[in-house]
Amino acid sequence: MNYKHDTHQITSLVFCTILLLVLNFSHAHAHSICIIGSGIGGASVAHFLRRYSSASQQNLIGKISIFERNGIVGGRMATVTISGETFEAGASILHPKNYHAVNYTEYLNLQAKKPSHSDDSLSLGIWDGHKFVYKTMNSNSKLPIVQRLVSFANSVMMFLRYGVSLFRMSSFVEETVNNFLRYYEDFESRPVFESVEEMLRWAGLFNLTTQTLGEKLVEVGLSPLLIQELSTVITRINYGQSVNISGLAGAVSLAGSGGGLWAVEGGNWQMAAGLINRSDVALHLHEEIETVSYLGDVYELNSTKGKSYNCQVTVVATPLDEINIRFNPVFSIPQRKLQHTHATFVRGLLNPAYFGMNKVSDIPELVGTTESIDVTFTSISILKKHENDMTYKIFSREPMSDALLDDIFSVRKETIKINWGAYPHYHAPEKYAPFILDGNHLYYVNAFENAASTMETSAVAAENIARLILSRLSAPVDFSLPKLKSSNSDLSKMHMDL
Ligand SMILES: Cc1cc2nc3c(=O)[nH]c(=O)nc-3n(C[C@H](O)[C@H](O)[C@H](O)COP(=O)(O)OP(=O)(O)OC[C@H]3O[C@@H](n4cnc5c(N)ncnc54)[C@H](O)[C@@H]3O)c2cc1C
Ligand SMILES: *[C@@H]1O[C@H](CO)[C@@H](O)[C@H](O)[C@H]1NC(C)=O
Ligand SMILES: *[C@@H]1O[C@H](CO)[C@@H](O)[C@H](O)[C@H]1NC(C)=O
Ligand SMILES: *[C@@H]1O[C@H](CO)[C@@H](O)[C@H](O)[C@H]1NC(C)=O
Ligand SMILES: *[C@@H]1O[C@H](CO)[C@@H](O)[C@H](O)[C@H]1NC(C)=O
Ligand SMILES: *[C@@H]1O[C@H](CO)[C@@H](O)[C@H](O)[C@H]1NC(C)=O
Repeated sequence: MNYKHDTHQITSLVFCTILLLVLNFSHAHAHSICIIGSGIGGASVAHFLRRYSSASQQNLIGKISIFERNGIVGGRMATVTISGETFEAGASILHPKNYHAVNYTEYLNLQAKKPSHSDDSLSLGIWDGHKFVYKTMNSNSKLPIVQRLVSFANSVMMFLRYGVSLFRMSSFVEETVNNFLRYYEDFESRPVFESVEEMLRWAGLFNLTTQTLGEKLVEVGLSPLLIQELSTVITRINYGQSVNISGLAGAVSLAGSGGGLWAVEGGNWQMAAGLINRSDVALHLHEEIETVSYLGDVYELNSTKGKSYNCQVTVVATPLDEINIRFNPVFSIPQRKLQHTHATFVRGLLNPAYFGMNKVSDIPELVGTTESIDVTFTSISILKKHENDMTYKIFSREPMSDALLDDIFSVRKETIKINWGAYPHYHAPEKYAPFILDGNHLYYVNAFENAASTMETSAVAAENIARLILSRLSAPVDFSLPKLKSSNSDLSKMHMDL
């Protein structure tokens, strides 16, 4: 009796000691995290690591450092100032169902605003290099009733040209958006994903990346005219590419042409700035990481400032395709080319003669283009109408030469050119780099960009990476085995020893 009692006491003593040890261990091992890149991806990883680790009451996350080679955070969310006014230079538009962005905006006390023009009053023209193959009516009237009539007439015209295909396109987009919403489900129903493929399969999105948008749209019954014109115009504006991009990137791009679009007042980059500010992060601006070496238990990151940092976890939150961080040991990932988009901002006036028109006001507010070698730009849109001139944004695949700009514009007071390594050049079937680059604790958020590249998809990928890091840190021995079972067998082994 006594003996049995003693054994129990000893066992529970041992158990408590182990428990204390484990607890102490995890306290002593608040892991240091290094994040390369301060775009929405890197900022979101920091945010979710803090949020989820404080909720779990385990002290798994210690110091978080973010390295940014530029002097400002935000990456591809950036503003440009032309004639004293500020506009989005990169990522500009958010979808109403971009729920992380919606929450960030609220959490950070930022303001949402509609883009410069409300969508249906915007006149659209499709330019093939010689003529407008399609052009909606411009409503130069300020009267709401006239605007509404024009907008109605434009819908009718669009229906006459493209027919029921328009509805098929929007139900395809809606279905894809609904699948994507699964990434906002609770932890109970939503697993932690170890790879992009697994993440896409779970939401029913994987198949869309195995065929091109063009193929997919034919499959859902769209007319060739709609594919060649409207769909192409949209994929060119959003990804600088044709309908040969994957079905998923295509659907995301088409969703970005719907209603209810918004942006953050004063600049979308403030989402990254605010998240970093509130996540207890050591931010290193103007510091580019050149090497990442795995030293057995830590990663050593060396920067252009000649400094060296040690972290137990390293997160790459930038596309690796055009930067030369040297990794040791080396690993290989599928080759990926970035699509470059040249964004040119002009304060001035378009030349109506270039477009075969008489007056500047005859040129549509948004000029989209078809795939044709005769087309010299991807899109031109009006960012703002001033009293005597406008501010325009031009996208093109190649840099806009001054000679070409002089042809297209009759007045050009100020011009700013930005060359973006903008997003992946999409293929179908798409191939993905792993989320875990080295099998240890080197993570890659932008592996997900091959599915689609948007601010929200970066946030969604980052949230999963934060969960992946926490789940792998809390089960450091062997996370592929069920936890309870292994600790049980450890205990029973000890019992036997006693
Ligand atoms: C012209 C354009 C228009 C777009 N339009 C939209 C849109 O309307 N809506 C939308 O949702 N998305 C849009 N996008 C896509 C969107 O910008 C990106 O998907 C998103 O911003 C990517 O965020 P990220 O954090 O993953 O990467 P990034 O924003 O690229 O962040 C990576 C950061 O890492 C830094 N970095 C790189 N290497 C190093 C290094 N070695 N050391 C330190 N720092 C380093 C970079 O300077 C950068 O700041 C657009 C993109 C472009 C270019
Ligand atoms: C956004 O915030 C709301 C309210 O706090 C929360 O219920 C919801 O889960 C959040 N959404 C995401 C995607 O985190
Ligand atoms: C994806 O394609 C495969 C093979 O063609 C098919 O078996 C599967 O049912 C498809 N999945 C979805 C979600 O459509
Ligand atoms: C799309 O892909 C097809 C097949 O590879 C090719 O023939 C066509 O030229 C491509 N179109 C564009 C616009 O790149
Ligand atoms: C950082 O956040 C605090 C609130 O937590 C706020 O008072 C401060 O203005 C913010 N700083 C910046 C630079 O955004
Ligand atoms: C990084 O810097 C440290 C300290 O200066 C140095 O010992 C190490 O060799 C450097 N690593 C690489 C890969 O250059």
